[in-house]
Amino acid sequence: YAEDGYRLWLRYDQLNDAARLKDYRKAISGILVDGDSPTLLAAEKELKMGLDGLLGKAVPLTEKLTRKGAIVAGTPESSPLIRSLNINDKLQEVGEEGYLILSTTINGKKVTAIAANTAVGVLYGSFHFLRLLQTTQDISRLSISSSPKTEHRVLNHWDNLDRTVERGYAGFSLWDWHKLPDYIDQRYIDYARANASIGINGTVLTNVNANALVLTEEYLIKVKALADAFRPYGLKVYLTARFSAPIEIGGLKTADPVDPQVQQWWKDKASEIYSHIPDFGGFLVKADSEGQPGPHNYKRTHAEGANMLADAVAPHKGIVMWRAFVYSHEAPDDRAKQAYNEFKPLDGKFRDNVLVQVKNGAIDFQPREPFHPLFGAMPETPLMMEFQITQEYLGQGTHLAYLAPMWEEVLDADTYAKGKGSTVAKVVDGSLDNHSLSAMAGVANIGTDRNWTGHQFGQANWYAFGRLAWNPYLSSEEIAEEWIKMTFSNKEEVVSAIKTMMLNSHEAVVNYMTPLGLHHIMGWSHHYGPGAWIKDKHRADWTSVYYHKADENGVGFDRTKTGSNAVAQYFPPVEEEFSNPEKTPEKYLLWFHHLPWDYKVESGRTLWDELALRYQSGVDTVRQMQRTWDALEGKVDPERFRHVKTFLEIQEKDAEWWRDATLLYFQTFSKRPLPEGVEKPT
Ligand code: GCU
Repeated sequence: YAEDGYRLWLRYDQLNDAARLKDYRKAISGILVDGDSPTLLAAEKELKMGLDGLLGKAVPLTEKLTRKGAIVAGTPESSPLIRSLNINDKLQEVGEEGYLILSTTINGKKVTAIAANTAVGVLYGSFHFLRLLQTTQDISRLSISSSPKTEHRVLNHWDNLDRTVERGYAGFSLWDWHKLPDYIDQRYIDYARANASIGINGTVLTNVNANALVLTEEYLIKVKALADAFRPYGLKVYLTARFSAPIEIGGLKTADPVDPQVQQWWKDKASEIYSHIPDFGGFLVKADSEGQPGPHNYKRTHAEGANMLADAVAPHKGIVMWRAFVYSHEAPDDRAKQAYNEFKPLDGKFRDNVLVQVKNGAIDFQPREPFHPLFGAMPETPLMMEFQITQEYLGQGTHLAYLAPMWEEVLDADTYAKGKGSTVAKVVDGSLDNHSLSAMAGVANIGTDRNWTGHQFGQANWYAFGRLAWNPYLSSEEIAEEWIKMTFSNKEEVVSAIKTMMLNSHEAVVNYMTPLGLHHIMGWSHHYGPGAWIKDKHRADWTSVYYHKADENGVGFDRTKTGSNAVAQYFPPVEEEFSNPEKTPEKYLLWFHHLPWDYKVESGRTLWDELALRYQSGVDTVRQMQRTWDALEGKVDPERFRHVKTFLEIQEKDAEWWRDATLLYFQTFSKRPLPEGVEKPT
């Protein structure tokens, strides 16, 4: 049948590696999952579907261990066979959601055991085991132990109740509020299953620009229906809480967080939610940002606002994810400094069940940003990462941009908060400051498109987010390799070709949009194409000229002492590096410095020439990707081949548009010719 991408990375077609297939068929004789919880049944169903498909033969479900070669999955509680392995010590180490996959023997028979403390651990282990087969690994001597490094791994859907998706490029919202609660679309289950396969255990259903209506009884019963559908897959539901809800749906006159009536309203609301959904995850809040109501309306701090909600959900073990994406309406000297200035003084003032959710960079999901200075700056508070999976500023639904290298760059960045090695990943997983509460959020790129993500390669970003949330120390390359093998093909030539495309793609986008540290120079409001010339908007910090500051003398935002001094928000070794253009990594150069057009960069070229050549190089890489993809014709299925080919044509056209428009604009200041090698605008 037509390959529309619906099956994501869970394709389970018969393996075409003959040698491996033979080994697997010999090694695997049956599936034995004791226990009948919905989650264990889901694990059993997955193993059955996966193994039947991959091995191209029916692998029987068995109840007794009669032959060698069984896949035995369960918890010590559910399964006497798992209990008989006496692996409690090892199990203790993997915690609530972790698992072990072991080649071992039970009653003298060779088996593969998938063991965990909880049913969801067994489910995660089952997906891992299937992944080993999908990627044709040796399964004869397995001794795998895996557990998540962050506790809450959540998607943030920016979905509105009318089913539009803010910054969504893959159709409409999956949540069909009209037909809920009575009709449960199979797609909800497929969605939960896909998330479970990569360890995502939470989903915020609604937009951060929130609508209080979702907190009314009418909607809560619909939310409950979704939560019930997701639960077997270990996926908890969260909602965004509109700060002014007590006024809008509660009939109160105020939403002041210190008002006892307001506090009581939220406590009652939380009890109501938990009466429907006993394992409700908690609230995500955008407050006092871009017009959203918040505690500042009542001259209260973010901590006072967050704590009020935290107290409401605490008796039910809920959490609050309070966003640090704030910047005020008055045009400040530097928007990049605001979140830090507002939140750092609140360190230590939040309740134990509050996480502060920080975007990876200080502006807003730009194609590239240096890491947010809040990471490392609030040791008393668990800070969680917010990545954007949807490509708002990275070509949206039509550009191929594999984002894991960008996320990896941020996670690996050293904050120096506690000396060398204090990476952002260690802040996020809680290890740097000994927080047991930890989390990572990804703004979802998922919608009603048949292939879920609009671009076939958007699936890789969903996949990579889940894998990195589970383990922020994985490399973007190994994640790409897994995904390609599972999604397209195990053939070496296909894997290496697609891998090269993916690993070069983010840098290509940066080059044709915002090279050398440029940022926020995109089209007004829609954020798709170029718009370096945007000025005269009612907020200076929503224009482009505010960020690039190009004039006849040069280009770039001076964030050193002679400028906004945003560099002072970093710890000294980083501050020193970012203060000096000679030491600043070139990729962040114009983020921190305003430099003359003739400034000599690392290559020995002038800044102007380098800038122009970077734009050209972005275009060139896209063309290289096209050639690589074209050579795969016949090696990937025709539907997805054509789809990606067409999108690459759009990407090439857009890359040229970005290059031509941006360079022509900057040339009005630089007054220099385009260097050799840069194509003349058409
Ligand atoms: C960006 C995006 C908005 C979104 C905001 C946020 O500014 O353009 O659509 O609401 O981020 O993260 O809150």
